[in-house]
Order: sequence, then structure tokens, then C-alpha cells
Amino acid sequence: MSVLEVTSELYSEAEFCSTETGNGNSISKFTFVYPNRRDAAPAENGTQPGLANGMDKRYNGQPVADSESKASSVKDSEEVEEESCFEEESFASDYGDSLCEEEQEEVLLYGESGDECCIATHQKDTKPPPIVLDKDGDVVVVRQRKGAIDIEHRKSTRLDAVGLQIWRGALLLGDYIMHNERKFKNTHILELGSGVGLTSIVASMYAREVICTDIDIEGLLDLLRDNMQRNAHLSSPHCRVHVTELDFKVSYQDYPRDLKTKLQDVQYVIAADVIYDDDITEAFVRTIVSLLLELPKLKAIYIALEKRYVFTLEDMDSVAPCYDYFLRYFEKRNGRFGVNRWKLINVCMDFPRYFDYDKVKDLVLLKVCHASK
Ligand SMILES: C[S@@+](CC[C@H](N)C(=O)[O-])C[C@H]1O[C@@H](n2cnc3c(N)ncnc32)[C@H](O)[C@@H]1O
Repeated sequence: MSVLEVTSELYSEAEFCSTETGNGNSISKFTFVYPNRRDAAPAENGTQPGLANGMDKRYNGQPVADSESKASSVKDSEEVEEESCFEEESFASDYGDSLCEEEQEEVLLYGESGDECCIATHQKDTKPPPIVLDKDGDVVVVRQRKGAIDIEHRKSTRLDAVGLQIWRGALLLGDYIMHNERKFKNTHILELGSGVGLTSIVASMYAREVICTDIDIEGLLDLLRDNMQRNAHLSSPHCRVHVTELDFKVSYQDYPRDLKTKLQDVQYVIAADVIYDDDITEAFVRTIVSLLLELPKLKAIYIALEKRYVFTLEDMDSVAPCYDYFLRYFEKRNGRFGVNRWKLINVCMDFPRYFDYDKVKDLVLLKVCHASK
């Protein structure tokens, strides 16, 4: 059993309104702004949408490229493909303009080191939303509607009980779901390694069914259940929420029958910050490969993670060992099926923050889906 005590980086950077429960846990309020679809319109000067949310305008600490940037498309050095920043389903439909791919322009955006790029898709002909005036001729300002998720969690744990804390990846994935609410609306979502449930709570705001899963360590599943219940008022009225154990180290064949039945409807699998230990990573990869093989309606798996760079004397460089190991192990399992059957896409990080946290440059969002899709 691990005795190493760890603390989520999230706590050191933001002031959460927390109260102590007396049993060693805290209840913290994670405030967010609801997506205001008007903010999604690209501004005339080509800057990114959704940044009028009261949150900052950083793209991994970098200003976004302007619309004059040269259009092209490359794979990054890790051969991870990129997904466009704006998902057509969520973006175009908000303005009633059905934009086909030919109407979109690809613009390269470079991260700090220049080794990562992502393709932002600007709609050339999208009209800005109309300016609405009130009867006195004043511009009607659309106010951001705010919400809050209350989560009971620990502020520090042993390494094997990190699910009792909240990690940045949970907020990143929450942002992505909010920004793509139309994609996730009325869908069936499975979360792996849900921890205390923040991302599952966001998913429940849009989905028809959310299956929240984790290992049952130190009362984690009870805490997850309590947090889902505590925030039930935020869920879509039609959403069914289930909390159940799913251990990556258990093979799909040994899952309980009722879990297997529920999984048949799952369209999206999500997981935040589950890549931090090579043993767990291997088991996680085996789990997602089984799900890709077994779930007939599965469209994509979204994985949020923090690369967590370290400097090693062996490499004489900063490396992200857990992330690199995940890529290598995924590649190995993927290669088992002859030609690579699934592709790993680096989702562009330039979607806005709806939660208040530091969207550090080490955060990554990956999408896994069938190579043919
Ligand atoms: C760093 S925490 C992330 C928790 C949550 N997703 C978040 O981002 O706040 C890693 C999660 O992976 C879960 N986990 C670790 N080993 C696991 C296993 N064998 N099967 C399923 N989940 C596991 C932990 O319990 C924990 O909830």
C-alpha cells in the first residue's frame, strides 16, 4: 500500500469557497458560467469565441493566432492527430447556419514550445450575432448565467486514494462538455475513474444517462454517490445517473451482467486524470480497448490529462513519462489488430474556460475513435 501523501495542484492556485465537514473532508464550491452561445461567434478580428465569459483569454498561456495565419495542416511530433477547435455540431447550429467543411478555413495555432499545434477552424461567412437594442436604443448586454457545483472531497490523500481529491483534468473535461453541449445532449455517457464526480455532474447537465465509475477505496463510491445527489438539481430532468464500481484491472468479461447491459447504450466514454501510474495506465488502456471492441454505439473516448513534465538526468531533458508511456502502450495495443484500428486525436485546447482554474499548458485532451470515423 502506498504511504506517499499527495495534494492536487488545483488547490494551490484557486481560492475555492470551502467548509470543513469535521470528518477530514471539505465541501468546496466550484463556480462556473453557463455557456452563452452568443459568445461563441468569432469576433471580426479573428480572435477566439467564448472568451467573454469573465475568464481570461489565455490559450495555454499564449495569445491565439490571428485570422491571417497561413492555412495548413500537420501532425505533431508525437503523431497525434488534432481535432478542430470548434465542433461543427455545437458551433454552427447556434447560428442556424449549416456550415459544411468546405466553408471552413484551417488556421494553425502554436503552443509555447512550438512543438504542438492545433487546427482552429474559422467559419468564413459566419455573421456576428445581431446587436439587440432596447426601447431606449441601448445595447442589450447578455449577462452570463452562473452556477456552482458543491463537492465533498479530501484536500490530501495517499497516492492510492487520489480519487477522493479533485484534479485539473476534471475541470478541463467539464469545460469541453459544456462547450460541446449539443454533442452530449441526450447521450449515454460512461465516466471512468470519476473520483468525487465533478465531470460526471457536468455530463449529467446534458446527457440522458451517466454511468459514473471508479474503484471503491476509502468510501469513494459513497462519496461519489453523495456528490451526484447533492448536485442533482443541476442535472437535466431526464438524466439517469448510476454509480457503480469499474476497476480497470478487471477484464470486460468479468463485469457484472447489469453493467454490461447498461454499457450497450454508451456513446461517449470520458476520463479525467487517470494517467499517472504505469500499472494503472496499462489497465486503463486495456479497458478502453475492450470498450472500443464491445460497445456497439460508442462514438468516442475523451481523455483529459496533465502531462506533468519532470527533468531527468537520464534524458537530460524535461519529459512527461506517464503521458509518453500512455502513448506507447496505446500504440502497442492498437497495433495488435494489424493496421491501427483506432486513432488518437489531440483535441485543440482553445475552447473557453467555464470553470475558474489555471488551464496550464501541460493539460491535454485526447480523443480516441475508430480510424474510419
Ligand atoms: C487523479 S484521480 C482523478 C479523479 C477525477 N477523475 C478527477 O479528475 O478529479 C485518478 C482516478 O483514477 C481512479 N483509479 C485508479 N485506479 C483505478 C482502477 N484500477 N480502476 C478504475 N479507476 C481507478 C482513482 O480512484 C481516481 O478516481
